[in-house]
Amino acid sequence: MKDLVVVGGGVIGLSCAWRAAQAGLRVTLRDPAPGTGSSWVAGGMLAPVTEAWPGEEGLLALGLESLELWPAFAEELSAAAGQSAGLHPEGTVVAATGSGDRAELDALAQHLARLGRPVERLNGRELRRLEPALGPDVRGGLSVPGDLSVDNRALLAALRAAAEKAGVVVEERAWEPGEAAPGTLLICAGAHSAALHPGLAGLVRPVKGEILRLTHRRGAFPVPTRTVRALVDGRPVYLVPRPAGLVVGATQSEHGFDTEPTVGGVRDLLRDAERILPGIAEYALSEAAAGLRPGSPDNVPVIGRLDGRTLVATGHSRNGILLAPLTARLVVGLLAGRPVPAEVDPARFGRTGT
Ligand code: GLY
Repeated sequence: MKDLVVVGGGVIGLSCAWRAAQAGLRVTLRDPAPGTGSSWVAGGMLAPVTEAWPGEEGLLALGLESLELWPAFAEELSAAAGQSAGLHPEGTVVAATGSGDRAELDALAQHLARLGRPVERLNGRELRRLEPALGPDVRGGLSVPGDLSVDNRALLAALRAAAEKAGVVVEERAWEPGEAAPGTLLICAGAHSAALHPGLAGLVRPVKGEILRLTHRRGAFPVPTRTVRALVDGRPVYLVPRPAGLVVGATQSEHGFDTEPTVGGVRDLLRDAERILPGIAEYALSEAAAGLRPGSPDNVPVIGRLDGRTLVATGHSRNGILLAPLTARLVVGLLAGRPVPAEVDPARFGRTGT
């Protein structure tokens, strides 16, 4: 039986560890606090279309491929873990307030139509028919029923349970660079990956995101059914439903490994979220946190071989939760000797590849 040591117990590390154990490897996962980093903080959107940016067509294609895997992945995971993986099968609406925001959404809709992914444009009244909690400042937007979400905390619990049931040994201690691994080493340490292998130096950087959790209180306007994304005077905000409330995200800034939520970040998120869903003023503010997205130079993940004994799966930028099923599939392929697509291979940056 071949050995695999997975460094990192976030959604990517746990997904790869689970799938590798299913594929017959003897897997050890190393993390001093599995499931407590950025995967815990995340909003859990599975939203390749509404995260699409012109110029990132390769990332959109990867996201769509992974989104297609999600329903079966979640079903299999729930059954294997004996607990729900947290998939929320409702779609997404995108809301705009001012005319500049509406023009930007029109440009996004045109871009998606050119790519063969037409989305439905709706006026304010039509959007409110779908989501009655949307406030009067919402003047128009889009409906994207295929962009889903998952409760990231339910997902992490299910992944850990399924991984351990499949034989993964979770060791709650840090991996030191230079330590000898039995068999193959797989680096999945998110924003911390660059310090673990010289081939990753300068390739993965922390991109801070502040995020809030709001809890519904009796008498308050009900939680929307779908994910609501919005542009408020040019600023993006998203509100992702959970059984007991909403996740509101997210700021984006680069301050090294700083994970302290700031007063300004919380203020901006609440101000913009309240413009879109005025009823949240009656919700409880339960949590403010910040996570570190593992940014890569082109926002596309870095998945492949770094040297004869070391593989990597990191650099998922804004899309780690979405890309987890596809990443695990690619890593299992690598372990079986199959190459990864060139667009994710670290070789595209001149690093050792497959
Ligand atoms: N995918 C959402 C975010 O990174 O904030």
